[in-house]
Amino acid sequence: MKKIAILGVTGSIGGNAVDVVLSHPEAFKVTAVSALKSREACEEAARKLGAKAYVGEDAATRAVEENDADICLVATVGLSGLKPTLAAIEKGMDIALATKEVMVMAGELVTSAAKRKGVKFLPVDSEHSAIWQCLAGTEGNGAVDRLILTASGGPFLDAPSDLSAVTPAQALNHPRWKMGPKVTVDSSTMMNKGFEILEARWLFGVPVDRIDVVVHPESIVHSLVTFTDGATLAQLSPPDMRVAIQYALTGPKRLRSERARLDLAALGALTFRKPDPVRFPCLELVKASARAGGCASAVLAAADEWAVDAFLSGRIPYTGIAKTVEEVLEHAPEMACDSPEAVFEAAEWTRRRLEGLKG
Ligand SMILES: NC(=O)c1ccc[n+]([C@@H]2O[C@H](COP(=O)([O-])OP(=O)(O)OC[C@H]3O[C@@H](n4cnc5c(N)ncnc54)[C@H](OP(=O)(O)O)[C@@H]3O)[C@@H](O)[C@H]2O)c1
Repeated sequence: MKKIAILGVTGSIGGNAVDVVLSHPEAFKVTAVSALKSREACEEAARKLGAKAYVGEDAATRAVEENDADICLVATVGLSGLKPTLAAIEKGMDIALATKEVMVMAGELVTSAAKRKGVKFLPVDSEHSAIWQCLAGTEGNGAVDRLILTASGGPFLDAPSDLSAVTPAQALNHPRWKMGPKVTVDSSTMMNKGFEILEARWLFGVPVDRIDVVVHPESIVHSLVTFTDGATLAQLSPPDMRVAIQYALTGPKRLRSERARLDLAALGALTFRKPDPVRFPCLELVKASARAGGCASAVLAAADEWAVDAFLSGRIPYTGIAKTVEEVLEHAPEMACDSPEAVFEAAEWTRRRLEGLKG
C-alpha cells in the first residue's frame, strides 16, 4: 500500500487523483490533502479519503511537513508548488509533479535536490507520462534521438489569425481537456507546450534543441520518443488525465481500470501538423528563455502568470499575454537561479516591473 499526499486536492488534477485513489483502495492510502481557499471541498475530500485536511497559503508545505507519504502529488498552481516540493524531497518522498511551473522556474534546483536525496520525479502531465512510458525498458537516455511532444492546438488552432479580440470565455473553452483556468489559457497560447519543453528537458535530461512539438488535434497520441536506431515509440489512450495520474502513482507497474479503451477503427484517422510560429509566439519565447539560462525561464513563467491573470480580469487583451512576456524577457537582468530565494526574487522582480509598467 502506497501512502500519498495530494496537494491541490480541490483542483482538476486533484479531483482526478481522488478518483484514481478511491478506485484502488487496496493500493493507496492518502495521508494529507491541501487547498488554498476551498475549505469545504478540501475537508470533504479528506473525509472521503480518511486523510488530514490543510487549507491556506502555507497549507501545502504544512501537509508535507506534518505527515508521512511515499509519494507527494504536487498539483497546486504556479510557483506555490516550489516550497512544498522541496519540503517533500527533503523528507524523502517521491514527487508526482503536475505543477510544471516548478520545473520551468526551478528545474535545476529541484532535480539536483532530488538527486541528492535519492528521490524520483514521477511525471503527471500526459505528455511526460507518455515519454516516460515510451522510455520504459531503455537503459539511460543515450539511445534517445528526439522527444516529440504532441499539442492539441487549443481553441484557436484554426481561428482567423487576428486574436486581439479573444475573450476570457473563448480562451477558457478548451476543445479536449477540462482543466483549471491558468493551464487552460496557457494551452490556448501554447505557452503550456513551451513549459512542457522545459519540463521534459529537466525530467529526461534531453536538451531543448532535441525536443520537438507537433500539433495533434485529436489528443490521442500523448507524445513520442525517436530512438537513435530510427524507431519511434508513442503512447496512445483516450484523453483522460486519470491514466497519467494512475501511472505516476504505480509506474512502471499497471493497475487495471475500467476506463474507456481506444477504438482506432472508430477514430479512423489521426492527424499531425507543425505549430504556426506566428499564431503561437510563446513557443519561441520559451526557447529563448532556455537559451538565456539563469533565471530567464523563471522570469518568463512569472510574467506569464501575471499576464494570464491580467487577461482574465480584463486588464490586458489576449494578444497582450505574449507581448508582456516578450517585453519582460527583453529587459530581464542576468540572475543566477541557484536557490529558492533566487527564484522567488526573479518572480518578484518580474511582478514589480509589470506593476510598474501597467499598474
Ligand atoms: N488540469 C489538467 O488536466 C492539467 C494537466 C497537466 C498539468 N496540469 C498542471 O497541474 C497543476 C494544477 O492544475 P489544475 O488544472 O488542477 O489547477 P486548478 O483546477 O486551478 O486547481 C489548483 C489547486 O491548487 C490549489 N491552489 C491554487 N493556488 C494555490 C496556492 N497559491 N497555494 C496552494 N494551493 C493552491 C487550489 O486550491 P483552491 O481550490 O482552494 O483554490 C486547487 O486545489 C497546474 O500547474 C497545471 O499546469 C494540469
